[in-house]
Amino acid sequence: MNVKFSALSVPQSGALVLTVAKGAKFAGFGAEVDAATGGQLSRAMKAADFTGKQASILDVVAPNGLKLDRIYLVGLGASGDLAAYDVEKLGGSVAGRAASARVRKLSIASELHAGAELNAGDFAGRFASGVSLRLYKFDKYKSAAKRDDNGNGDLKAVTVMSAGAAAARKAYAALGAIAEGVHLARDLVNEPANILYPVEFAKRAKKLTKLGVKVEVLTEKDMEKLQMHSLLGVGLGSVRDSRLVVMQWQGGRKGQKPVAFVGKGVTFDTGGISLKPGAGMGDMKGDMGGAACVTGLMHALAARKAKVNAIGIIGLVENMPDAAAQRPGDIIRSMSGQTIEILNTDAEGRLVLADALWYTQDRFKPRFMINLATLTGAILVALGKEHAGIFSNDDELCERLSGAGEATGEKVWRLPLSKAYDKLIDTPNADMKNIGGRNAGSITAAQFLQRFVNDVPWVHIDIAGTAMDSPKTEISRSWASGYGVRLLDRLVSDNYEN
Ligand code: BES
Ligand code: MN
Ligand code: ZN
Repeated sequence: MNVKFSALSVPQSGALVLTVAKGAKFAGFGAEVDAATGGQLSRAMKAADFTGKQASILDVVAPNGLKLDRIYLVGLGASGDLAAYDVEKLGGSVAGRAASARVRKLSIASELHAGAELNAGDFAGRFASGVSLRLYKFDKYKSAAKRDDNGNGDLKAVTVMSAGAAAARKAYAALGAIAEGVHLARDLVNEPANILYPVEFAKRAKKLTKLGVKVEVLTEKDMEKLQMHSLLGVGLGSVRDSRLVVMQWQGGRKGQKPVAFVGKGVTFDTGGISLKPGAGMGDMKGDMGGAACVTGLMHALAARKAKVNAIGIIGLVENMPDAAAQRPGDIIRSMSGQTIEILNTDAEGRLVLADALWYTQDRFKPRFMINLATLTGAILVALGKEHAGIFSNDDELCERLSGAGEATGEKVWRLPLSKAYDKLIDTPNADMKNIGGRNAGSITAAQFLQRFVNDVPWVHIDIAGTAMDSPKTEISRSWASGYGVRLLDRLVSDNYEN
C-alpha cells in the first residue's frame, strides 16, 4: 500500500476521514468541513449520539455541499488516552470500513486534539501504518472473479493529510518500512509449502541484499562441514534440501557487537515418522513463522536504516516421513558436541534451533540472542493466542521485551525455566532426549534450547499461538499475523540504537 501525505484540503471525490476528540468537538479543519456541509456533520453527531469516544466511527453518507461519497468521523477519545498503537488501530478500523464500503480513494485528515501526547507527524504516520497493515491481503492464488472485490479493484489511493506533511512523511519513512517487514513476514507464512520450501525461502531472503543486508546461504554441504547434524537430521526425510541463511545488517557503530535473532523455519511439519494426525495439518505450512519474523524484521531494520548491527539467522528444513527420514530412538550429535536421543520426530523445531543457536553465539558473540519458533502446541493450551510465551536467562531483556509488547500490542508472557524442569529431558542413552514427559511441554522445549545457549542473554519466544491462524484484529485480517516484527523492531528502537 502506497500511502501519500499532503496538506489539509477538501478532496473532490471518494471518502474523507475526520478525527473528533471526546466531547464531539471539531478541530480547525473539521470545523471547516462541517461548515461546508451546512452543519450536517454536527447534526449527524447529535442524532447518532456520537461523542468522539475512542475508536467509534460515524459514517455520514453523501454529505451536503461536497463532492464526497462519505465522511467517516472517527473518535479519538480524551486527550491522554491515545498511544501510538491506538492510532494504528484507528487507521486500521477506518481502512476496514472503507474497504468493505468499496471506497477506492480515502483521504484522512489527521488532526489531533489539543495537548495531545503524540506529536502530529507521529500521529499521521501511525494512522497510515494502521491503514497499510489492515489492507494487507493474500489473494495471489485466487482468480480475479473469485477475489473479495470480484476483480473490481481495491482501495488503492490513500492520502493522509495534515498540517505538517513533511513531518508525517518522515515518521512514515520508518513506520512504512516496518509495515513492509510485517507484510513480508505474513506473505512468507501464508505461502503454501509446495511453493515455499527451504531453497525458495532462502532465495526470498536473498532479496534483502537490495536493502544493504549481507545475505549468506549455507547449503547442506556447508552445514555438514560444521557438524550441524541436529538440523540436518530433520531434513533427511524430505526431497527438499535444507538451508541456513545468515543475514547481516550493519547500521550501527563499526565493531559494536550485534544483536541476534534466530528463527525456526520448518517450511512444512508433517511430524516426520512420528506423523501428525490429519486434522488441521495444513496449518503446518506456517511452521516457519519464526524464520518469517526474523526475515521481516531484517527487512524493517534495513529499510528504515536502523542504527544497530543486527544478525538474522534462520534454519530452513522440511520435516517429512520417508525411508530416509530419521527414526524415533535415533541418536545424533549436534554441532555443540552434545548428543540427542530423538524420541519423537515431531519435536523437530528444537533440533533445528539447537544448531542455529549454537552457530549464532559461536560465530557472532552477540549482545543478546532472541529466537522465535512455532515450537509447541502446549503454548496454545497455556496462553491461547493472546500472548506469546517467553523463556529467558536474563531479567532485563525480558523487561524490555515486555515493554515493547505492551507498546505494540504484540504481547509476551514469561514462563519459568529451572533445574527441575531441565532434568525432564535427561535420558540414559545420550546427553538429552528431544521430548519431556506429558507435562509442561512448552517449558521442556525451552529447557532443551537453553542447553545450546552459553553466557549470552537469551530469550526464546514460542509463537505457535500468535504467528498463524490468527484472530482478526483492527490491523490484521490475515491468517498469518506477522507477529514479532513490530515487537522486535520496537525492542531495538527503544533500547539498542545509537
Ligand atoms: N510445529 C509444532 C508445534 C505447533 C503446534 C505449532 C500447533 C503451531 C501450532 C511442533 O513442531 C510440534 O509438533 N511440537 C510437538 C512437540 C511434542 C512432540 C513434544 C507438539 O507441540 O505436540
Ligand atoms: Mn513438529
Ligand atoms: Zn514444528
